[in-house]
Amino acid sequence: MDERSPDLPEPFKIKMVEKITLHTKEKRRELVEKTGYNVFLLKSEDVFIDLLTDSGTSAMSDHQWAGMIETTQAYAGSQSYYSLEKTMKDIFGFKYFLPVHQGRAAENILFSTMVSPGCYVPNNTHFDTTEANILRNKGVPVNLVIEDAYDSTKVLPFKGNMDTRKLEEFIMEKTCEKIPLIMATITNNSVGGQPVSMQNIKEISKIAKKYGIPFFVDACRFAENCYFVKQRERGYMNKTIKEIARELFSYVDGCTFSGKKEALTNIGGMLCTDSEELYAKFRNLAIMIEGFVTYGGLACRELEAMARGLREAIDENYQVYRHRQVEYFAELLRNEGIPIVEPPGGHAIYIDAKRFLPYIPPEQFPAQALTVQFYIESGVRAAEIGSSCFGKVDEKTGKFIPARMELMRIAIPRRTYTDNHLRYVAECLIKLYKKRKQIKGLRRVYAPKLLGHFTARFEPMN
Ligand code: F0G
Repeated sequence: MDERSPDLPEPFKIKMVEKITLHTKEKRRELVEKTGYNVFLLKSEDVFIDLLTDSGTSAMSDHQWAGMIETTQAYAGSQSYYSLEKTMKDIFGFKYFLPVHQGRAAENILFSTMVSPGCYVPNNTHFDTTEANILRNKGVPVNLVIEDAYDSTKVLPFKGNMDTRKLEEFIMEKTCEKIPLIMATITNNSVGGQPVSMQNIKEISKIAKKYGIPFFVDACRFAENCYFVKQRERGYMNKTIKEIARELFSYVDGCTFSGKKEALTNIGGMLCTDSEELYAKFRNLAIMIEGFVTYGGLACRELEAMARGLREAIDENYQVYRHRQVEYFAELLRNEGIPIVEPPGGHAIYIDAKRFLPYIPPEQFPAQALTVQFYIESGVRAAEIGSSCFGKVDEKTGKFIPARMELMRIAIPRRTYTDNHLRYVAECLIKLYKKRKQIKGLRRVYAPKLLGHFTARFEPMN
């Protein structure tokens, strides 16, 4: 068999296991009621299969663990910092980088430095923490993803792309003085983990250069994105993931990165740039809020784990396995008519709750209701990416503005669960789909203004 065949199984074997427990349905119902129908507030020990996120939930390799033990701890100039720098230069290729404790810390430093009140930050689609960090700096996050991204049935190779015509019109309307940077999120998590094409990155870069605006990518899932480019974009079939990544990063001025995804670590992140001037500004703030530049709010061992994990994430056999597992899970659901976002993204399957529960209006949080009921039925924890996460309340009128999509995201942690776990998840969801008419909407009784979904509380509708 060709070693890169799409049928390649897990390119690893299991060395250590962790026990998981399935409570009774009655107990799960009681537990989720106590959280105010918000699965973020469940104890993880009360979750059977935890698919809340692919962030910080990867199983690390023996090579990563070994590196964590072997490396030394130092406040300044640690060996692991240089190891991460070497890896970053090799895969990302930026001149400067700062380790940070996770992606949102990079966002905080980036936006606190570049965003002033009233200015705009266009992106294909901002993730919730990116959006919140811009709002915290009194900027305006703007989503310019292609319109097709909002149609969960449409099959397109690069559904995460930005609408570059809209971007240029937006710059002309608001003027470049009001736009301190442009971003693109790869893959585009908020609309289904959809990839962005190299062509799109090139076009955004061209526009950014034309108007003299810095262009950063949110590179959380860059390797999965590059694997999609390899599979779907003409001219990349024979390139390695690293070559594709290097090309992609060559078109941008910097990136934010959460190591909790594709550095295959449980914590960590980076802020990278080619600009000496920006780096100097980022560095001062980073020292203030994260720590000295050679550890960035992390234990040195975490830097070593990131350096080694990044190399594992660009390994082609690993990406083949990863994408095949996501596709296997999608196929089980698709075969039974479960409305998933098509085509499947890189790190998760997203259920379209508008189609799963068409009779529950957005004000009653269909994706949240589905997520809660799914936990009760199966012990599986998924995440809501709908109106609880992205809905707004108009400050003047108090009117609720729902999110464009109502999704339940079933994220797949890296190297953590087997196909058999996913078969169980699919079977439970299929069972729930057959009795979906019994699911009732929810009334939100509490939510803070920013990132409200983490601590929101709900009550069932009668
Ligand atoms: N950008 C994207 C696209 C993300 O998906 C995340 C995190 C971040 C930035 C922030 O990174 O968590 O290290 O601070 N996403 C996780 C998720 C939490 O579940 O999708 P972080």
